[in-house]
Amino acid sequence: MCGIVAYAGHKPCHRILIEGIKRLEYRGYDSAGLAVIQDGKLALQRAAGRIASLEEILDETTAHGTVGIAHTRWATHGAPTTSNAHPHLDDSGRIALVHNGIIENYAALKTWLQSQGKHFSSQTDSEVLVNLISFLYRGNLVDAVQKALKEVEGTYGIAVISSDHPETIVAARKGSPLLVGVGENEHIVASDAAAIVEHTTRAVYLEDGEMVVITPDAFRTITLDNITVDKELENIEFSLQQIELDGYDHFMLKEIFEQPTSLENTLRGRIDLQAGRAILGGLENVKDQLAQAKRIIIIACGTAWHSGLVGEFLLEHLARIPTEVEYASEFRYRNPIIEPGTVVIAISQSGETADTLAALREAKEHGALALGIVNVVGSTIAREADAGVYLHCGPEIGVASTKAFTSQLAVLTLLAIYLGRRRSLDHDQAQRLLQSLTEMPARIKNVLCLSDQIQKVAQSCLDREHWLFLGRGYNYPLALEGALKLKEISYAHAEGLPAAEMKHGPIALINKGMPTVFIATSGSQYEKVISNIEEVRARGGMVLAVATENDTRIQTHAEAVFTIPDVPEPLSPLLVVIPLQLLAYHCAVGRGCAVDKPRNLAKSVTVE
Ligand code: G6P
Repeated sequence: MCGIVAYAGHKPCHRILIEGIKRLEYRGYDSAGLAVIQDGKLALQRAAGRIASLEEILDETTAHGTVGIAHTRWATHGAPTTSNAHPHLDDSGRIALVHNGIIENYAALKTWLQSQGKHFSSQTDSEVLVNLISFLYRGNLVDAVQKALKEVEGTYGIAVISSDHPETIVAARKGSPLLVGVGENEHIVASDAAAIVEHTTRAVYLEDGEMVVITPDAFRTITLDNITVDKELENIEFSLQQIELDGYDHFMLKEIFEQPTSLENTLRGRIDLQAGRAILGGLENVKDQLAQAKRIIIIACGTAWHSGLVGEFLLEHLARIPTEVEYASEFRYRNPIIEPGTVVIAISQSGETADTLAALREAKEHGALALGIVNVVGSTIAREADAGVYLHCGPEIGVASTKAFTSQLAVLTLLAIYLGRRRSLDHDQAQRLLQSLTEMPARIKNVLCLSDQIQKVAQSCLDREHWLFLGRGYNYPLALEGALKLKEISYAHAEGLPAAEMKHGPIALINKGMPTVFIATSGSQYEKVISNIEEVRARGGMVLAVATENDTRIQTHAEAVFTIPDVPEPLSPLLVVIPLQLLAYHCAVGRGCAVDKPRNLAKSVTVE
């Protein structure tokens, strides 16, 4: 996710652009830039880091222009450096573009444009688009943008300016939001209303496939085929904070509800259904070494460690490679045994967690092939790993990790299939799993409908200070994650356990009304979980269950049942976690806790 602002008016615009992208900083904050048309030329200023770094270098270069575009970036293709920051100029320096989204066929387009003599100075997919526009430009900017967009696959929200048309901005959307603020002798295009409301509350929302051409005094909405679209002016009625939160009360809830989209972004371009294969471009340069892997060690902390535990099941089940999962903080001080053929995988949302980074370095020193599964592009772990796979789930702001977890699970599933297909996993098995994986975003959407039911159940448990979360097999790590979510944001004490372990001690804790969350989805261990449930009920515990839809038996064993669709067992963690996240969220809100900034916790722990 990135943030775009474009202004055409009669006021000097560089401060307006900066203030606008600051409002969008929650959409991305690893680099920023702006381009303004000044004295008939494009003046460009860009900086790596947060927008404050851009402000530090701002000078007179862009001070007087009244038409310009700006961008705050969250890297997908290419590290967050100054040269990869937006806007991007075409190689003639006459056209500038800001882009939010992913151009999936950028590699093929780039090769072709290079063969036509175009030059590139960044690693981004966005620079390919501006050069394509430039290649097709014959004096009519709108026409060139339309022609170029017909050639690209993927998603985009873009704004384009050219020094040949100093009063005009061309913007277009497909899959990435854009709206046009309509003011008095000024128009502003932005990724969301937060960047607009200071100037005007009247706006036009673009739909996918629509474009807008703005000048200080007019705007025109059209399609890629240049047909005029009549749009209604709407009133923006939200406060700034509400806009950033997109109407949700907390970032955590927003991110929970974003999961259908964030998962889609993680999977985009990585599934070849026909061949029954996962496509992981980031592993290309180590694929031969990976084919020789004898043992995998996953290192991580917190929620990422839980996704690693699911990864252990996936890699052993689908790829038949012995896998262990270690707390990064333990691994780094253990003088670990790393034999030839050992692959170490560091999982980290931030890519900066001190223990995970130190463990990765330790693994490399011992000669392991070191991979990273990371969200933040260009983060230290991403840079230091030999190869890796990005999550592409967008910035995660809530301290309690949610959408990064589901994206980690998706990447681990793809990795297990990627490795499995080079070993024992046959085409049909892989194809079935990949097919189900593509259906997961829609299934998550269905599971999110449980939110109201879960809120009611949470209301009845607000005074409970001790909880248990129990599951077996693939669901055991989910029990740990459910307990972690609850304790970190609601401050109730919660333990997650493999269900069978309960009888070796924790069962002594069960007393009347103690909430015990069982993950009892259909699968190989269902009957055994039902027996464990009975053990809790016999001692007066209050049983809440996550179960598979159409399971009629479970209703008689539990006080409340949260049902999820029936999917292949290796994929069920992607759905099971949703009610657990919602349960933790609603308990925390009911208990009056600061959901997005829980006490004593940090989003990224960069100290030991
Ligand atoms: C902190 C966060 C957790 C996160 C863990 C690992 O403790 O509060 O939500 O799971 O760090 O973070 P990472 O960025 O490495 O995934």
